[in-house]
Amino acid sequence: MTPDTGPRQAARSSEQEGPSGSEAPLLLAVDGQRVLCRLEDIPDGASKGFAAIAGGFTGLMAVRRGNAVFVYVNSCPHIGTPLDWTPDRFLSRDGRTIVCATHGAQFRIDDGVCINGPCVGDSLESVPTEIRDGTVYVPKDAGL
Ligand code: FES
Repeated sequence: MTPDTGPRQAARSSEQEGPSGSEAPLLLAVDGQRVLCRLEDIPDGASKGFAAIAGGFTGLMAVRRGNAVFVYVNSCPHIGTPLDWTPDRFLSRDGRTIVCATHGAQFRIDDGVCINGPCVGDSLESVPTEIRDGTVYVPKDAGL
């Protein structure tokens, strides 16, 4: 049996295209993962939204802090609405918390726990990430 050697080159599909026509890598993830984006697609200290993949209803959102990326399902635990009020805008003015656009709940960036608002103590659904060679990977079924 041949050992798995990592990502393989594959033809671009609609699932792999980056937001706003950004230069998404042409890699098909293996081991149950898919490519979310390149690390540099998320400005340091900022957030970015990702549309639902084919067959899904809920997109993802990500916050970058240096070389770390925190990814959550873009759905508020209060009543399930998307968090953003405009594309890629998920953070408070000071950039310290994720803010739900519907009723203003605030969530810690590093663990997604609500610290203020109508769902205090609830959490965003965290998505495990892995960064390899500047590419951010998430589980294939994240957001489904
Ligand atoms: S839906 Fe997010 S705080 Fe109400």
